[in-house]
Amino acid sequence: TVRKVGPPGGTPEGAAGPGGGGGTLALVPTMGALHEGHRSLIRLAREHADHVAVSVFVNPLQFGPNEDFSRYPRTFDADLEVCAAEGVELVFAPAPGDMYLPDRQVGVSAGQMGTIVEGAFRPGHFDGVLTVVLKLFNLVRPDVAVFGQKDAQQLALIRRMVTDLDLPVTVVGGPTVREPDGLALSSRNRYLSPADRVTALALSAALREGARHDRPKDILHAAHAVLDEAALADPPLVLDYLSLVDPATFTAAAEDHRGEAILAVAAKVGATRLIDNVVLDLS
Ligand code: PAJ
Repeated sequence: TVRKVGPPGGTPEGAAGPGGGGGTLALVPTMGALHEGHRSLIRLAREHADHVAVSVFVNPLQFGPNEDFSRYPRTFDADLEVCAAEGVELVFAPAPGDMYLPDRQVGVSAGQMGTIVEGAFRPGHFDGVLTVVLKLFNLVRPDVAVFGQKDAQQLALIRRMVTDLDLPVTVVGGPTVREPDGLALSSRNRYLSPADRVTALALSAALREGARHDRPKDILHAAHAVLDEAALADPPLVLDYLSLVDPATFTAAAEDHRGEAILAVAAKVGATRLIDNVVLDLS
């Protein structure tokens, strides 16, 4: 928990609203279509600060030209109800025109780390994410920002941005929330047909099989076996990558890697692209 010192003679701690002199503020950035994963982050945010803000903004900068920006789910009224039910004090929901000038020039570069693993399949995606997250930090001025482990490379890059650019924000990561059958919750799950959803279970199943081993070669072999089988299903799973990486740098974990590693997977099922990951301890 972070404590912000109020102005001399200011209100008692916790008495002021968001942005006030007393109490700390946690921000949960989202693109809306809120589900239980987002709700878990809101609850986690509450444990780390006196006030909680949620941003809802479908960020055009982080979608590629052939990605799903226009058909990304927008459920703002339901999102407001979720925020109200969770006791969120502030919902920040700018329109695209409020965030980006038509002639904008300057943005954040995710560097080489933004071009590997997920970044190799989504050129410019992480630059777009970091640019909007920095803008949200500057506009909302939170003490704490909460992100999900579900987007592990995004979380690692935000930590990197905070370090490299000396941002005065404490980053907190929250665990991935899953359906009882293992499927990681995602706003994009609503695109899955019943048959797609059966095939999609192979992502989490592959991670579970990989997690039963402790040598990189065995981990990848076991996970690939599950994904190979799903590639023959109807509809097929079309694999983008399966990678075992260092959690901080997202470079490949060597055969003698010790400590934590992330087993990350991305695949298309029908028209929907899904990602998932699990943190392993290879000590
Ligand atoms: P969005 O996909 O809406 O996700 C918002 C936050 O919820 C992210 O931190 C994400 O990791 C987390 N999240 C998503 N699914 C989750 C799950 N099943 N369990 C736990 N947390 C989950 O990620 C983004 O939006 C955007 O890139 C954003 C950071 C808002 C910048 O535009």
